[in-house]
Amino acid sequence: MGNLYGLIGCPVEHSMSPNIHNDAFKDQELDGYYHAFHVEPDCLTESVHALKTLGVRGFNVTIPHKISIIPHLDELDETAKIAGAVNTVVHKDGRLIGYNTDGNGYVTSLKEMVKRPLTEQKILIIGAGGAARGIYFTLTHQGCQHIDLCNRTVAKAEELVHACPFPNTSTSLSLIQAEEQLGSYDIIIQTTAVGLHPNSNLKPLSLKNARSTAVVSDIIYNPIYTALLQEAENLGLTVHTGVGMFVHQAALAFELWTKQKPSVDKMTTIVMDKLGGTTRC
Ligand code: ATR
Repeated sequence: MGNLYGLIGCPVEHSMSPNIHNDAFKDQELDGYYHAFHVEPDCLTESVHALKTLGVRGFNVTIPHKISIIPHLDELDETAKIAGAVNTVVHKDGRLIGYNTDGNGYVTSLKEMVKRPLTEQKILIIGAGGAARGIYFTLTHQGCQHIDLCNRTVAKAEELVHACPFPNTSTSLSLIQAEEQLGSYDIIIQTTAVGLHPNSNLKPLSLKNARSTAVVSDIIYNPIYTALLQEAENLGLTVHTGVGMFVHQAALAFELWTKQKPSVDKMTTIVMDKLGGTTRC
C-alpha cells in the first residue's frame, strides 16, 4: 500500500503543491500520494490527531496554521525553531517532527540567481511579518550581516531586528526612508502580501532610486510578475520571482519525507505552466 502525504491549510483549493508532489512521486517511481486537506482553524487539533492516527507519513502546513500547529507536534527541528513556524511535518517512529523549509528554500533559490556570495551583499527586506522573519533569520544564520528591514509599521521591523539571534548590523526603516536610500542595496526582497492576486496592481514602494545592478526579489508567485517586479524589469534591474522559493521549499520537504531529491526544474515547469508564465525565474 502506498504512503500518504498532504497539506493542511485554509484555503488550499488553489494550491499547486499536490501537482508538483504527485508528479515527483511518479517521476521518482515512489508509491506515494499527496492530498490537500482543507482544515479550518477550529479543526486543527482533531485534524493533526487524525493524520497521525491514520499513519500519514508527512504533510505541509500553510496559512493559517504555521504557528498554531507547534503545540501539536512532538519535536521541532532547528529550522522550525529559527523561523518560529512550521511548514513541513515528518511522521517518524510515531512522532510528529516540525521543520521549516521556507527560509532555506528561499535562500537556495536566491543563490541560483545571485552568483556573488550573499554575505557580501547589502540587502533590504520589505516587510516584518512571518515570511520576513523566516528569510531574515535564515540569511543572518548563514552569515549575512548587512540586512536592513523596512516596514509600514516601523516598530515591527525594529522588534524583528531585536529578536534576531544571529550577528547583524541591521537597522529598521520606514517605507519612505527605504525608498530614499534604495540605491545603497544590492538585493531588495519583498515579503509582504502587497501585490498578491487579486490586488496585483499594488506595490509597497517605488524602485526609482534602486541602483542599476540591483536584484529585486518578490516572494509572491501569483502573479509571477508582480507590479514591483514589472517596475524592476522596466528599469532594467534583475528580477527574482517567488516561484523559486515555492519549488525549493517543496523540494526540501519532499527530500525530508522520502530521502530523494526531486527535479526542481520539473516542479518549476509545472508551476509556470499552471500560472501561465514563461520560464524566466
Ligand atoms: P506573513 O506571515 O505572510 O509575512 P504577516 O505576518 O501578516 O504575514 O505580515 C504581513 C506583512 O505585510 C507585514 O510586514 C505588514 O506590514 P505591517 O506590519 O505594517 O502590518 C505588511 N503589509 C500588509 N499590508 C500592507 C500594505 N497595504 N502596505 C504595506 N505593508 C503591508
